Parts: sequence; C-alpha cells; structure tokens
Amino acid sequence: MDDLKAKYLDLIAGAGDESALEELRVQAVGKKGEISLQMRELGKMSPEERQVMGPKLNALKDEINSALAAKKAALADAALDERLRAEWLDVTLPVRPQRQGTIHPVSQVWEECTAIFADMGFSVAEGPQVETDWYNFDALNIPGHHPARAEMDTFYMHRAEGDNRPPHVLRTHTSPVQIRSMEQGGAPTRIICPGRVYRADYDQTHTPMFHQVEGLAIDRDISMANLKWVLEEFFSAYFGTKVKTRFRASHFPFTEPSAEVDIQCSWENGTVKVGEGDGWLEVLGSGMIHPKVLQAGGIDPNEWQGFAFGMGIDRIAMLKYGIPDLRAFFDSDLRWLRHYGFSALQVPTIRGGV
Ligand code: PHE
Repeated sequence: MDDLKAKYLDLIAGAGDESALEELRVQAVGKKGEISLQMRELGKMSPEERQVMGPKLNALKDEINSALAAKKAALADAALDERLRAEWLDVTLPVRPQRQGTIHPVSQVWEECTAIFADMGFSVAEGPQVETDWYNFDALNIPGHHPARAEMDTFYMHRAEGDNRPPHVLRTHTSPVQIRSMEQGGAPTRIICPGRVYRADYDQTHTPMFHQVEGLAIDRDISMANLKWVLEEFFSAYFGTKVKTRFRASHFPFTEPSAEVDIQCSWENGTVKVGEGDGWLEVLGSGMIHPKVLQAGGIDPNEWQGFAFGMGIDRIAMLKYGIPDLRAFFDSDLRWLRHYGFSALQVPTIRGGV
C-alpha cells in the first residue's frame, strides 16, 4: 500500500495538465482503478484482516483524491497566472488621438429651426427631392407657360427618347411639400418642411443645391398677423435677441397676397448684426396660400385659409454664425468643417441669450 501511495502521489505531482490528471484519477480510483480493485479484494479477506485493511485502503483513497483535487486547483491557478501574464495591458497608457467629426452648420441650424417651430406647434413633414413637375409647379399655380418656371433654373431629369411621361425635376423649392402634406393630413394643419432644393446657379451666394425650410399653417381664421407673429417669434428665438421684421409686397403664384420678409440688422465694418440698427436683410418669401393651391391639395378654400413661407436655411446659418461664403458649405474642407462645425454634444440653442 505504501508503494501504491508513493507511486500515485509522485505521478500526480508530475501531471502536466488537467487531462493527464484525469487519466491518473481513472487509473487509481476509477471504477477499474488500481486502488478500487484492491478494495474489491476486501471481500475475500477474513474479518480480522478486513478490519485492518479496510480503513487503510479508505484512507489511501481519500489521500489520493485530495492530492488530485489539490493538483487540479494548482494547475488552474497556474493557467490563470499564465493568462494574466500573457494578457497584461497597461491601462495607464494615453489613448490614441481620435479624430472627431463635427455637426455641419446646416444640420445644426436645421435642428434649431425644427426645435423652435416645434415649440409653436409645427410638426415636420418631408417630400421627395426628385419631384413631378405637377407638385413642383402646376399644383402651386405655376402653369406651363409661367415665367417662374424659367426663372427657377430648373434641373430636369433625363428622359429616354420616346419616353413621353410628364417631366420629373429636382425640386426647386420645398413648396411642393405644401401640397403633399395637404393631401395627407387635410386641414387644420401646422407643418414645417426642412430639406434640400436645387437650382442651376453658382456664385458666392448661390449653389446648385441648397436648403430651405417651408412653413405652412392652415385653419379657419389664419391671417397675415399670425404669419408676422410666428416669424418674429422664430427670428427672436433663433438669433437670441428681439428681431423686427419688415414685410414688402411681392409676388408668388402660390400666395395671395405675397410678401418678402426682411429682418432688422446693422452693417458695421462689413459685418452684419441682426436685431439692431436700421438696415434690412431679405430672408424669406411668404404670403396667404392661394385658393387654387388649397384646392390642388384637396382643401376647400371657402372653409379654410392659411399662410406659407419659405426660408433659406444656409442663408440664416451664414447670418447667425458669421460665415461669409456659401460655396464653402459644400466643399467638405476639413479645416472649414472643424472651424464652423459643432460638437455633437452641443445641443441647439433655441433661446440663446434671451
Ligand atoms: N417657394 C418660394 C421660393 O423658393 C418661397 C415661398 C414659399 C414664398 C412659400 C411664399 C410662400 O422662393
């Protein structure tokens, strides 16, 4: 028995891994193991012999089992130590510098507009950028021969020869969304539509793609007074200071009467300041929705009336954030984006300063 004990304790001490250890366990104390077989021999012994040998064998088995368990724990510890050594990592090292993108001024101002108009009960509507000429023109009371069609420098989608469907255009303004949201929601309604629009034009203040936000409010008794209040409220919130507006009579086929709206500003050494001084700056077109436009949107002009306006997002972004050249908005120059862009965590101000 001493031989058995010495043999197995030796083997166990030398086991290199868990599977070697398991083999030893089977070999020694498994069902057909060497020690188990010895225990079976007890049955053949005389009671006196058994009384001596039984406890000794049991003690041996216990000793082997605990040696196995201890070795198993030691192997696991060693494996963990090895992993800790191998996977060691210096958490005090400085992080690699990460290039962070910025929020484009157009996105920022888009969000600011949405937030301010949402405060006044306007929800956001959307429409397609590739539009039928019916939504972009006809439904807005701009018939085929109307000069406004030519004036807008419209991009027409290519048509294969012999394809005689009515033309699709890149929308020249966000006004077609007026019609779409009238069709969808009926009256009363209060929506804005920020989005991309397209005109073939390119200089310091014009790019072939730019952004507008359309506004639309329809109810039984909406008037120009509501329009003026909403716009003054908007500009004051947006610029963070009380801003006066000036309405100039104008003409749009889809509004009657129509007005172009200027905001109060001062010019000092070539920089514009909104909300002070006695200068004026044109920022949008507006008016009372033409009865024919309501009709085209499926709304009865004898029951309902409303105002609409369309404003350049890029333009008011330039004014608020002092950006001189519109073309740079779309050059994707990283230096420009880092300079004029906003941090993602910079929540749009909707009552800045006031
Ligand atoms: N759609 C006009 C434009 O792009 C602006 C406008 C919108 C005018 C709504 C009146 C009413 O110039």
